Amino acid sequence: MIAATVNLELIKENYLKALGKTQRQIVVCAGTACVANGSLKVFEAVKEQVEKKDLDVSVKLESDKDADVVMAKTGCRGFCQVGPLVTVRPQEYHYVRVKPEDAAEIVESSVADDKPVERLLYSDPATGNTCRTTKDIPFYTRQNRTVLDECGKIDACNIEEYISHNGYFAARKAFTEMQPQQICDQVLESGLRGRGGGGFPTGKKWALTLPQPGEKKYVICNGDEGDPGAFMDRSLMEGNPHRVLEGMMIAARAIGADEAYVYVRAEYPLAVSRVSEAVRDAEQLGILGEDVFGTGSSLKIKVLEGAGAFVCGEETALIASIEGRRGMPNPKPPFPAQSGLWGRPTCINNVETLATVPLIIQHGAEYFKSMGTENSAGTKTFALTGHVANTGLIEVPFGLTLREIVFGIGGGVTDDDGSILKDGFKAVQCGGPSGGCLTEEHLDLPIDYDNLRNIGAMVGSGGLVVMNRKTCMVQIAHFFMQFTQNESCGKCVPCREGTKQMLRLLEDIIEGRAALETIDLLERVASAVSKGSLCGLGKTAPNPVLTTLKYFRDEYIAHVVHGKCPAGQCKAYAMPEIDPEKCIGCGLCKKKCPVDAIEGEKKQPHVIDQDKCIKCGACAEACKFNAVIGM
Ligand SMILES: Cc1cc2nc3c(=O)[nH]c(=O)nc-3n(C[C@H](O)[C@H](O)[C@H](O)COP(=O)(O)O)c2cc1C
Ligand code: SF4
Ligand code: SF4
Ligand code: FES
Repeated sequence: MIAATVNLELIKENYLKALGKTQRQIVVCAGTACVANGSLKVFEAVKEQVEKKDLDVSVKLESDKDADVVMAKTGCRGFCQVGPLVTVRPQEYHYVRVKPEDAAEIVESSVADDKPVERLLYSDPATGNTCRTTKDIPFYTRQNRTVLDECGKIDACNIEEYISHNGYFAARKAFTEMQPQQICDQVLESGLRGRGGGGFPTGKKWALTLPQPGEKKYVICNGDEGDPGAFMDRSLMEGNPHRVLEGMMIAARAIGADEAYVYVRAEYPLAVSRVSEAVRDAEQLGILGEDVFGTGSSLKIKVLEGAGAFVCGEETALIASIEGRRGMPNPKPPFPAQSGLWGRPTCINNVETLATVPLIIQHGAEYFKSMGTENSAGTKTFALTGHVANTGLIEVPFGLTLREIVFGIGGGVTDDDGSILKDGFKAVQCGGPSGGCLTEEHLDLPIDYDNLRNIGAMVGSGGLVVMNRKTCMVQIAHFFMQFTQNESCGKCVPCREGTKQMLRLLEDIIEGRAALETIDLLERVASAVSKGSLCGLGKTAPNPVLTTLKYFRDEYIAHVVHGKCPAGQCKAYAMPEIDPEKCIGCGLCKKKCPVDAIEGEKKQPHVIDQDKCIKCGACAEACKFNAVIGM
């Protein structure tokens, strides 16, 4: 029979004792990106090599067994770009781009012996320095990983290891030492704001749900994460699922719920399986289920797969989806806190929000407030992607500037071939389809909820897409518009029809059919969509358009008035060029050009002055050698 009250101290002590006897730990990243790059084969190859050495290898450290070498699979460590990653402990040698063929050398050098395999260590492209551990890699040293701290360090599927890192101690404290109102107060005091996009104070949401009448209440963990390019919540669910469950337990205690759901999109199979396994393990150990920590309270957590529609991340649509109805938003009020799942008071929080809560209960509100800014406490995870040298998952305190993120952590702006572009920065798209495009003038702005909102962008769920000078901002606005238009559920007219019209107007601009009035019309429709839509999808869909219009208006004007795409990306505005391979220098084009835009010596390749060219096509018509291209 399972003991009703689990002894966390004893589990921790036994685990650490067993770990102390282990000579080496080999940790292989098994996050989605590393797995896609073959990390599971690396794991098997390393294991095989360890066994060849006649060492006793265990694939999971268990407190009641001894092993010479323990191998573990972790969740994402953030630096997916250089994966698969392998760490050898206790030296913490951090190997990058590891292939199964490297296994023998890793085991020979750093497991049987004590030396790192130099060629597999990360070399910093900026300085050329070889980095032995993550403590030497600028991508990590400039971050403040608190919520993600154990992601990539611990075996995601080993509850004992989580407990050995003080896991579930905060949940026990919440259940046995704190009253629900005290928990709400502490979370409110900490300044934690929802990480799912809106930034609503979490403690306030809990305090609103707590006094609602009725015996039955629910907690929902929103793991839908539909933003293109975002993978923060997925990484947390895959890398440290127990932390998410612990946050849910604290939320349940705070509002008085005895049932909870983790809603994960079906495209995240690894997250679904790891969270499900974590629930099973926590139940088996007596942490979840009946009589939680001997308090008489019970808590059941269920994992539900969503079909993967962006709008299902919206809380009322998510509730409809769990209830088995079509995932469409409903007007608020009533808010889920008043009438949510099956009409009962329901608290919906984002994965990262919930994974942050154990930190606050464990270390206190002051600790949390000591990070971040006055109105945005703590840290935030971001998915850093696009034209930047180091892409990946990062966690930084609020208040850090975009410059520090793009150049300090990201390592600078890159060309399409990955080489660093000096002065190549053009924009950052912040906050996904609900967010906005920021420009050079915002590089030194401390990032927080209010600062970003004041300039028309959003923290959103934390997507950061860096763009170089060769990016056409109209095309970027079009990309995000296409996404929201596709994802509009169609329930309300401004969103359903308005996003369609905005998309058409953007297409007109990109394809050379627009005039100055098109820009005005686009702006007016954007404002109507944002004011008239029912849910956040429609309300924020115009943000990428409005911010590009605000900060890159010249680029729109260049398209519609001057017939040019300054980034050279829109085919309709491609300028004619002369192919020097084909041109024989006959000079016919030069004679026909009405604005003297063509230069060149007889029998030498000619060139077109793009600033003078009016794209009349006379040169292409005159050339008998098809040397004029791009018309
Ligand atoms: C179209 C749309 C999609 C959303 N998708 C998500 C999502 O994937 N994950 C999430 O946590 N919140 C999402 N939200 C916000 C949720 O509705 C809700 O505000 C959030 O889950 C509350 O949690 P928080 O207070 O911890 O941020 C979305 C909102 C909208 C309008
Ligand atoms: S705003 Fe768009 S997504 Fe939201 S309810 Fe209306 S049609 Fe559906
Ligand atoms: S007409 Fe053709 S071949 Fe002759 S100079 Fe012009 S581009 Fe060159
Ligand atoms: S999946 Fe391995 S570092 Fe992200």
